[in-house]
Amino acid sequence: MVRNVKLTEKEFFEERAKVLATWKTGSDPLLNFEESIKYLKSLPDSKNFAIKMAKAKEQGRTLVQPRAGVPLISAQIELLKFLEAAGADFLPCTIDSYTRQNRYLEAEHGIKESIANHRAMLNGFPAVNHGVDGCRQVLEAINVPLQARHGTPDSRLLAEIIHAGGWTSNEGGAISYNLPYAKAVSIEDSIKYWQYCDRLAGYYEEHGVHINREPFGPLTGTLVPPSISNTVGIIEALLAAEQGVKNITVGYGMGGNVNQDIAAVRALREQTEEYLHRFGYNDVCVTTVFHQWMGGFPADESEALGLIAMSSTVAALSKATKMINKTPHESVGIPTKEANAAGIKASKLVTKLLQDQKMFDSPELLAEIEQIKKEVNCLMDCVLRVGDGDIAVGTVKAFEQGLIDIPFAPSKFNAGLILPARDAQGNLRIYEFGKLGFTEEIKEFHRKKIAERAKLEGREPSFQLTIDDVYAVSYGHLVGKPSYENEF
Ligand code: 5AD
Repeated sequence: MVRNVKLTEKEFFEERAKVLATWKTGSDPLLNFEESIKYLKSLPDSKNFAIKMAKAKEQGRTLVQPRAGVPLISAQIELLKFLEAAGADFLPCTIDSYTRQNRYLEAEHGIKESIANHRAMLNGFPAVNHGVDGCRQVLEAINVPLQARHGTPDSRLLAEIIHAGGWTSNEGGAISYNLPYAKAVSIEDSIKYWQYCDRLAGYYEEHGVHINREPFGPLTGTLVPPSISNTVGIIEALLAAEQGVKNITVGYGMGGNVNQDIAAVRALREQTEEYLHRFGYNDVCVTTVFHQWMGGFPADESEALGLIAMSSTVAALSKATKMINKTPHESVGIPTKEANAAGIKASKLVTKLLQDQKMFDSPELLAEIEQIKKEVNCLMDCVLRVGDGDIAVGTVKAFEQGLIDIPFAPSKFNAGLILPARDAQGNLRIYEFGKLGFTEEIKEFHRKKIAERAKLEGREPSFQLTIDDVYAVSYGHLVGKPSYENEF
């Protein structure tokens, strides 16, 4: 059984030899810690993800980061330079789907086909195939920190290559890059894979190099109630801290009700720090990331920009350290570089206008923060109880028993029994709990909120509410209705 215990240096190096042997770019002499640590230390602070995030936190700024990934190094460089010029504070390399599934041979074919066809034949940047040197070429062409963004249950080799390549942040985690992305990878396995990635980041920290780690907050991006995603973020932060990670960015995907979204980011920041301290991790820098709306987008590009601007408003008022932006092409697919730049510019303008403003505490805000914290504490208690105090064991068992359950996740290791829906104000609530570890009191609160909404709409709480809510935003509404007739 997997346990939440730091890998010894011996265990780490034994596993490392196996990881590096899984694909040819793993045998690169640049994958030598002496060399990579020297390289990472030679980079200016302005290219270090963790340092720039800590500075933004101190200044109370919300910085902007896009998504972007194309198959070839030269095209990736051109793309990132364009996005940097548009105002991106951090840059990503979004990794292609083959690499996410460790299918490096197919990624190699994709690179060859992209060269032959003069167009992108992969949906991202295959960093493992391009190897350490390819990653360094990309980093050296830009002036801001670089992060791998993906969705990989086993990103051990990817993490080795990108960090040695000078990319100082890796997104993902044992739950957040497994259950929403994979069908048949056990949580026990993904915890082991991510313990390795975290241990690698921890190893760099031990040697004076700051590496940022970012659990993927939005999970399935579809009506995920804040207490569920916040619980997952806190668990992944604790697992990371045990392996020596010192810079963690916990994330949240916009829900749509402004009060609930701001409450969720505040609860996430505060409870992540509380739990880290409770378990004795006192030297971790916690920052936050707000994801612009992750559900279905309006097809109309002006409407999409409106939603991007609203997302940016909420992100700025929530004082998230960073925001991941969307683009006016979201409903279509991978954006052109121009559309990506448009999303960045709209986002930057709004965050700059709001940078010195804050949301004042209202009774509604404080009540929602308290509600989210109560639910998170309840779920964390379940995890710790079934794990006998061990968060890794508890995570495996809590998901097995459905005590934590992620809506709409494809994984067979997720119970998939809960159903979320919005209340009358558009807050995300739950009406079908499955085996979720909420107390009766919490369940009653949710039931009441959803019953209020259903009554207003003259219908019974049912699966139809969920379906209507899933599609609502792309049609220009927050709360799904059977019909939008007579609305303006
Ligand atoms: N470039 C830009 N955006 C991407 N996304 C996925 N792959 C890429 C890529 N290669 C975006 C999707 C969606 C989010 C989950 O990631 O458009 O917004």
